Amino acid sequence: MSAALKIDQFNLLDDESCDARIEAAKAILGDRLAILGHHYQRDEVFKHAHFSGDSLKLSQLAAKTTAEYIVFCGVHFMAEVADIVTDGQRNVILPDLAAGCSMADMANLVKVRKCWEELSAILDPDEKVTPVTYINSAADLKAFCGNHGGIVCTSSNARAVLEWSFGRREKVLFFPDQHLGRNTGLTMGIPLEQMVTWDFMKPRGGLTDDEIRNARIILWKGFCSVHQMFHPAQIEKFRREVPNGHVISHPENSYEVCQASDFVGSTEYILRIVRAAEPGSHWLVGTELNLVNRLRDEMKPKGVTVQFMSPMVCMCSTMFRTDPQHLAWVLDNLVAGQVVNRIRVPQEIAVPARRALDLMMEVVD
Ligand code: 13P
Ligand code: SF4
Repeated sequence: MSAALKIDQFNLLDDESCDARIEAAKAILGDRLAILGHHYQRDEVFKHAHFSGDSLKLSQLAAKTTAEYIVFCGVHFMAEVADIVTDGQRNVILPDLAAGCSMADMANLVKVRKCWEELSAILDPDEKVTPVTYINSAADLKAFCGNHGGIVCTSSNARAVLEWSFGRREKVLFFPDQHLGRNTGLTMGIPLEQMVTWDFMKPRGGLTDDEIRNARIILWKGFCSVHQMFHPAQIEKFRREVPNGHVISHPENSYEVCQASDFVGSTEYILRIVRAAEPGSHWLVGTELNLVNRLRDEMKPKGVTVQFMSPMVCMCSTMFRTDPQHLAWVLDNLVAGQVVNRIRVPQEIAVPARRALDLMMEVVD
């Protein structure tokens, strides 16, 4: 077998040369290859994807595909999920290994275990608390949930997952995104004072025993660096300028932004609602810039105006790491018989993580 091609050679290529290589490799590999693209990918990469979707749809697509190679144009946790749901039987490839998720990094196994232990001083967490991890988390946290009667959720099924969780135990420990947990709890009628925030930098989360005892949801203090750029003042300005306009936001936004929005949902939901909009309508969208720009261009000929919520350019910088150069590099290696950047989750993590993921799939079915 020949030596793997080096990324350095590809970093010198312009986008057009990469496009030609990517298309040629796709033609050679045929249905042995599935390229999955998250909605936040930049256009230069997104256009090459065989399938696109939100986190839930992409994990379902990964589970279904029979392709030998799954090239995941998304971030690290998504590729881990694809490896877990395919039992390590496919080659799941992340074109740039540095494509992580800053929110996922805000929770880790050491800190979550410490939290669980600290909760044990006040109550029996394995009897009273369902651990729920947002899919935006490392595989070992999904395994933690699988080992403690817990479950995974995505932004499109968080409510169904929380309902399932409360059907089993009286409290939920939700990590790493406080906003998705809080915004979902509110839709279920849980008052704000029964959702406390666990500050993982402080002993016992910075909470009193009573605050923990009275809480229904304990929210990990994580957040998305992209969605924190959106603010209610941007919505107020839009409402003044376009009084009959509509506002749609992702649930990773703050409580204040979601409360001020007309619609709240996952990336797939946002696309569905705006694509069904009346001609002549105006939409302010609070999610990542690449998705919003594509939607704006798609809807313009249909007479629907789509506007990005922030005056700043806020992209997911880690999604942005996947560029045509890295995509061309991993595909040319596959053509040459080399698998580079394969994501593999060890069995001892994959098995319990799969349990928590399978539960999620059952709950949403
Ligand atoms: P969804 O794709 O589930 O809407 O989530 C958005 C996101 O932040 C992915 O990391
Ligand atoms: Fe993570 Fe936010 Fe980027 Fe999604 S948009 S991958 S949550 S940093």
